[in-house]
Amino acid sequence: MKPISIAIDGPSGAGKSTLARSAAAKLGYLYVDTGAIYRTIGCYAHRKGIDPKDEPAVKAELPQIHVGLTYGEDGLQHMLLNGQDVTKEIRLPEISLCASAVSAHPSVRAFLLEMQRELARTHNVIMDGRDIGTVVLPDADVKVFLTASAEVRAKRRMLELEQRGTPEPFEKILKEIEERDWNDSHRAAAPLRQAADAVLLDTSELDFQESEAALLRIIRERTGL
Ligand code: DC
Repeated sequence: MKPISIAIDGPSGAGKSTLARSAAAKLGYLYVDTGAIYRTIGCYAHRKGIDPKDEPAVKAELPQIHVGLTYGEDGLQHMLLNGQDVTKEIRLPEISLCASAVSAHPSVRAFLLEMQRELARTHNVIMDGRDIGTVVLPDADVKVFLTASAEVRAKRRMLELEQRGTPEPFEKILKEIEERDWNDSHRAAAPLRQAADAVLLDTSELDFQESEAALLRIIRERTGL
């Protein structure tokens, strides 16, 4: 039987990964965080001191890069860069910036496309990213565009940073979110946009439980699970 694929796209900070991971665990599906895959390429560029915005320089390195994806006993997705586990390193703020820069290059996107499709060919997946419903899995069984207002996303991020002991002012966080939204949705290669057949889920007014219930309802309605 053909595996089921669920595509979840949306802007940064909309809660995609937390919701997708939790829904995947409930459904017994594989959760694929595609942002982590772009972060792994960003990590390589950072380590090598390559300007991540310099497409020819990044493209020239691609044959030397092997991106591996494994699932630990904890069930969490681990990223391997040429065999080395970089799961923690890719979350550093400097790697976020590198990931954002390398993800704009068509050569990088083409390099990572097949690996993402292969996962969906061989497993029931919930895959999250920016172009899953539009480019990676245009025939996904369910497509969700998960979003929340920039203000709500900034507020959530502010609380997260406070809890981590690294608070930042609301206005600064909001400005960064708006900038990233603009960059993600205005780049030429696979910009962030809602697929015509995606269901819009706006979590601005919902807490986590309500958002998860809404996501599972959409998935069940569409797949008959
Ligand atoms: O979701 P994230 O913040 O971990 O993603 C890291 C970067 O990768 C982000 O700048 C957007 C980019 N990305 C992308 O272009 N396409 C995807 N499918 C996933 C992430």
